[in-house]
Formats: sequence, structure tokens, C-alpha cells
Amino acid sequence: VQYSRIIGTGSYLPDEIVTNNDLAQRLAKKGVETSDEWIVSRTGIKQRHIADDSTKTSDLAVKAAQNALASAGKTAADLDLIILATSTPDFVFPSTACMVQAKLGNRGAAAFDVQAVCSGFVYALTTADSFIKAGRARCALVIGAEVFSRILDWQDRGTCVLFGDGAGAVVLQASDEPGIQAAQLHADGSLTNILCVPGSVAHGQVTGDPFLRMDGQAVFKQAVSVLEQSARDTVAEAGLELSDIDWLIPHQANLRILTFLAKKLGGSMDKLVVTVDQHANTSAASVPLALDQACRDGRIKSGHEVLMQGVGGGFTWGSVVARM
Ligand code: ACO
Repeated sequence: VQYSRIIGTGSYLPDEIVTNNDLAQRLAKKGVETSDEWIVSRTGIKQRHIADDSTKTSDLAVKAAQNALASAGKTAADLDLIILATSTPDFVFPSTACMVQAKLGNRGAAAFDVQAVCSGFVYALTTADSFIKAGRARCALVIGAEVFSRILDWQDRGTCVLFGDGAGAVVLQASDEPGIQAAQLHADGSLTNILCVPGSVAHGQVTGDPFLRMDGQAVFKQAVSVLEQSARDTVAEAGLELSDIDWLIPHQANLRILTFLAKKLGGSMDKLVVTVDQHANTSAASVPLALDQACRDGRIKSGHEVLMQGVGGGFTWGSVVARM
């Protein structure tokens, strides 16, 4: 087998939509001041979906996975690999991938989580592609799923307005036709401090800080520079030109990052898939959510070249070029 190919996509968002105005009202009750105007002008975000307290990452993931399996014409029994990207797992262990496997009714497939924060889906997709090319799997479920609302400090207006909950998934199958044509992953662990949740659980207690902390301007600068380079390198590895790319799906953190990137890559905004306005930043779920939306509304068609990009805590980043 020469390639792996995406044969189905799916996604799921929790029912509750919180607009910027809703959020501003809720935060005002806690003495935190923000506004729709500030959030839209700095980030492009208009609303986000928030999961209720009884919903776990695996619940969102299972629904996205079922939608992806249905669109691929596969059942859970066909899977021999399940990789789930998340930074908000159900438990310390077992992996959320194992929870999803049980809920889907698959037994025996390899199942594990990937932790690369907002680059998680691109890391997971690249890992699954490598398994398939090596002959170690034939049909993989790759999921990005998060409940970031659980790790936000609602007193910190510089971060709590930026994120939402959701899940996206793809089914990846061994194929003689392309397929995933190129993938590159990177990390620089020396940049841990610009974006982190620097806490953990030990001796029955939370140690350190359990909330997301971010140096927004440092993240912004780092994100645009690594995404541009990674896009150029990965498209070249695929033997393509930037102008061959039909759709650009970067991690949906911020509309300003997306616009800046599209300009730097010389592409028009028409090629950019944008969901950050509707979903906010859903971390590992953002790329598969955007991919599924653009496949289902008919923008992405069979044969199109799609460039997917992740960037986030670690610092981590990466890109995948896929022919749909
Ligand atoms: N509402 C109102 N005012 C706010 C809010 C808010 N929600 N948040 C911050 N402010 C205020 C600040 O207190 C500050 O006020 P001051 O000047 O009186 O001190 C002012 O707005 C400017 O704050 P900055 O942090 O300098 O604002 P900046 O223009 O840098 O925008 C932002 C912040 C949107 C976070 C920006 O830095 C950014 O987009 N960074 C990229 C980070 C990102 O997208 N991260 C997502 C996670 S990372 C990832 O997924 C890769």
C-alpha cells in the first residue's frame, strides 16, 4: 500500500451556543469586563459551543466518530486503529481513545491518545498515516475532541473568551491512490511557558495551576511564523506549489492569525476555511471540525488538495497535505 486516504469525515458540537454578548453578561456577574466589540475585533470570534457538565470529551468524540463512520460507509468493527487527540481527557488513564472504542463497540483495535494540544489532530493524522503506510493498520479512526471550557480561568478575560468545546473525526483507509501526500511535525519544548496548563494531579490533589495560561502576543508571533514555513515545506514535500492547494485549513485560533497566514502564503481568503467565528478555538477539534463542515457544505470536493495545519502548546506545529 502506498497511501492512506480520508474516506469519511464527521463532527459534533454541544447544543449550547454562548454568544459574545451572553458571555459578557455572565462574566460581568463575576466582575470581569469584556464586550462583543472587543472579542470580534481582536479575534473574529462571535460565539462558541459549551458542553454541559455531564458531557465528557469521549461523548463528543463518539458522536463525531459515528458521523465520520457513516459518511465513510464503515462500521466500528472495520477499524483496526483509533487515535484520539485531546488535552482534556476524560481521565488520567485509560486513554479517551479506549473510552471511545468501548462506546463505539469496537474490540481489539489499537487505541491511544495523542497529546499535542492544538496541533493534536495533525499529529494524530500523521501518526495514523504512518501506521497505514507501514502496513500496521488498514482502517483508522482519527479524532480531535476537547472540552476546553473545563480548563479556563473565567476570571482571566485574556483567555476565557477564546475557546469552545467540540469534536471532529476522519476515517483513514489504506489506498493505492493518494491520499495523504506529505506530512511534517515539529515541536520546540523550550517555549512551554507561552501556552500551558501548568498543573497536575498528585497525592489526591491538584498540584500547580489547573488553568490555561497564555502569553497572547508571543503565541501570535510564533504561530504565524511557524505556520508559514511549515506550509511551504509540506507543500514542497508533496511535490506541489502553493497555488495547487484548493483549501487551506489552519488551526482555528484567531481570525487575525488566519488572515495574516493566507496573505503570507499569497492565497486569497476564498481558499481559507474559517469556523473560528462560530466555534471559537476548539484546540485539537478545530481542524477536523472545519474539514467536515467544508466537505458537507460542498466546498471540498473529491480530488481537491487540502492543506491542514496545527499549532499550539508545546510549542508544537505541523502540516498535512491531503488529496480528498
Ligand atoms: N475583553 C476586553 N478587554 C480585554 C480582554 C477581553 N476579553 N482581554 C484582554 N483585554 C484587555 C487587556 O487587559 C489590555 O488592557 P490594557 O491595555 O488596559 O492593559 C488590552 O485588552 C490589550 O490586551 P492584549 O493582551 O495586549 O491584547 P492583544 O491585542 O494582544 O490581543 C489576543 C489579545 C487576542 C489574545 C492576541 O494576543 C492574540 O490573538 N494572540 C494569539 C493567541 C491565540 O490565538 N491563542 C489561542 C490559543 S493558542 C493556539 O491555539 C495556537
